[in-house]
Amino acid sequence: MAEQSKGTALVTGAGRGIGRGIALELARRGFDVVVNDIVDNPEDRSTGAWEVLERIQEIGRTGLFIHGDISDADDRRRILDETLNTFERLDVLVNNAGIPCPKRLDILESTEQSYDLVMNVNLRGPFFLTQLVANQMVKQVKESTPFPPIIVFITSISAYVSSPSRPEYCISKAGLSMASSVFADRLSEEGILVYEVRPGIIKTDMTLKVKDQYDKLIAEGLVPQKRWGVPDDIGLAVASIARGDWNFSTGTVFDVSGGLNIRSL
Ligand code: NAI
Repeated sequence: MAEQSKGTALVTGAGRGIGRGIALELARRGFDVVVNDIVDNPEDRSTGAWEVLERIQEIGRTGLFIHGDISDADDRRRILDETLNTFERLDVLVNNAGIPCPKRLDILESTEQSYDLVMNVNLRGPFFLTQLVANQMVKQVKESTPFPPIIVFITSISAYVSSPSRPEYCISKAGLSMASSVFADRLSEEGILVYEVRPGIIKTDMTLKVKDQYDKLIAEGLVPQKRWGVPDDIGLAVASIARGDWNFSTGTVFDVSGGLNIRSL
């Protein structure tokens, strides 16, 4: 018989990469998981959100795939409505979906089009999805809840490390970091806990294009722990937060970057 659910978690952009790692780790820890992604490929169920869903079911938890774009207001509303239709409540939101700059361009050349695209997905989308979900969580807390609802923002070391060839990405992550603080501040009085997780250099499709460049930097010692991060590194950190290990630490930033956060002289 399946263990009783620890709650329902929604992970955005969970069809691959870090989001997939988080979704599977949450399932292993007993959560039912809503897998959101903008990509839907029902013809090939060996990759993408459908594969993640199958893995969640193998673990013995209930999964639900909701296709949708978190930068679109109607989709955000539908993602929450469909989650509640199936699970009746939402206990954990992980704002993971994000995009790199479509093209790396020096800050003296970056375009308004790229700026708007990156901001909409990386900052505006998670900000307003969190607002929507937080209002639902406030209602749940009032109706009584066995444990405090939790919201996690996946930002990046780029929230504080400057890369002049992708300024819009860095600015979006710095903004998201502050969004995490402001929500943590406001929602503490509602009994809702908010955290920021900052991944370092993680091996996913997003970093595939710059793999050789990062291989070299890591070999030269850029990352004190001398390896690439993997999605499971982030999954383990988020699962620890979700299961309540950090219930007296709202507003905390977790660096999961192999020591890239250390300033060294
Ligand atoms: P990825 O590109 O491998 O996966 C991102 C997933 O999000 C994809 O499945 C994609 O379809 C989905 N997605 C993109 N736009 C979406 C939208 N508008 N609505 C819903 N889903 C959408 O990326 P990765 O590496 O897994 O990154 C995940 C998060 O972690 C991102 O926010 C990224 O900025 C952040 N991050 C990644 C790092 C890395 O080294 N890979 C380092 C630091 C942060």
